[in-house]
Amino acid sequence: MKTLIEPFKIKMVESIRQTTEKERIEILKEADYNPFRIKAEDILIDFLTDSGTGAMSDRQWAAMMTGDEAYAGSKSFFRFEKAVKNITGFKHIIPTHQGRAAERILFSVAVKEGDKIPNNTHFDTTRANVEFNKAEAVDLVIPEGKIPTLEHPFKGNMDLKRLAEFLEKNHEKVPMGMTTITNNSGGGQPVSMENIRETGKLLHKYDIPFFIDACRFAENAYFIKLREDGYQDKSVLEVAQEMFSYADGCTMSAKKDAMVNIGGFLAMNDETLAMNSRNLLILTEGFPSYGGLAGRDLDALAVGLEEVLHEDYLKYRLRTAAYMGERLTASGIDIIRPTGGHAVYIDAKAFYPHIPASQFPGQVLCAELYRKGGIRGVEIGSVMFGRKNSDTGEEIPAEMELVRLAFPRRVYTQSHFDFAIEAIIETYGERDKAKGLKITWEPPFLRHFTAKFDLVD
Ligand code: F0G
Repeated sequence: MKTLIEPFKIKMVESIRQTTEKERIEILKEADYNPFRIKAEDILIDFLTDSGTGAMSDRQWAAMMTGDEAYAGSKSFFRFEKAVKNITGFKHIIPTHQGRAAERILFSVAVKEGDKIPNNTHFDTTRANVEFNKAEAVDLVIPEGKIPTLEHPFKGNMDLKRLAEFLEKNHEKVPMGMTTITNNSGGGQPVSMENIRETGKLLHKYDIPFFIDACRFAENAYFIKLREDGYQDKSVLEVAQEMFSYADGCTMSAKKDAMVNIGGFLAMNDETLAMNSRNLLILTEGFPSYGGLAGRDLDALAVGLEEVLHEDYLKYRLRTAAYMGERLTASGIDIIRPTGGHAVYIDAKAFYPHIPASQFPGQVLCAELYRKGGIRGVEIGSVMFGRKNSDTGEEIPAEMELVRLAFPRRVYTQSHFDFAIEAIIETYGERDKAKGLKITWEPPFLRHFTAKFDLVD
């Protein structure tokens, strides 16, 4: 059969509220053209993030009922620990409330002022946590990873040549190296097994530990199975186990590929680093057997880690992004190609050639997608990454103007996607009428969350 179906059926539903275009124009004005300021109940299809927005399975909900809420040494912790060890093979597994808590603890204990951390591309919170410890976050993704429409099977790969040169020069200042799978900031693009292995080798030459930012490890493993020679006959679990075998530890936001609404962990082999991490965890997150989570959260996470490796799920998951990508591309809309695992990234600069970066084409597209279809995406462009010239106050634009439509796991059906695609294509048909936006108020940092906008006259 050619038709690929969602590999689940629906046992509980949440209504979504229909709004009219007229209502949405008003809502947009009230929200100052910033989708983060729109109430979730006014959204028809929410593609703001794939983080913590997934639907848990009946098996996960059942596991929650068995949660052991003992403060120390709960049964839930050991079930969680076993599930993580089975996939990663790491010796020390430390639960945290989400990914950035794992990052904060790791960098607080292992990074000092003046250090440099290489990564394919640091995610925002990773970069912010590195910089908070007065170290430098260095992005070394391959050049292909920065060209939106250029096809490459592993666009998230580390540039090994640049990494080797970087390490030769700076190895004494590098307390660890990282790679992010999949590379979220570069379009959710996978990293090949060969690249993970070689990154590990280069770092280990200088005895530098290698950490994986593992949020979307299962999607990455399935891309390897599909695209890299020698992995077709392996199970996704085996592929994942091999990926982690080249590393010394990982940080994980379980809100992505562990299919839970909250949770994360830090894992590693090094005894001293683990001890220091646990000590800080006790200070800020909680006792090492719960790390800021309830016992029931750990149980749901353990089951989620098993379910995410089911091949029928991953096939449907990756196909969803590819399907939307193919239909948008066929309609002349430029996206980051090929599509990654968790999202489609539309090139807003190409969508609105008449709107300059100083008038935020990505933000305009977010507003227009909401007006047309009640769809919420997120701008990844000059609102998020633009800077101001400190002398003139003039805006310095970001490298790319993108809109990310990220897909919650197991939440929307094929017809939701068909509807969203239709709305995007219709918005494209009306592109000439779209007007730029200007900022009317912004906070001192991370402005994209709260900034206010108005239409340019
Ligand atoms: N690393 C990556 C690659 C991520 O995508 C995220 C979160 C984190 C770390 C931090 O994890 O949110 O649990 O603290 N990404 C979300 C997103 C927010 O929308 O892409 P967290």
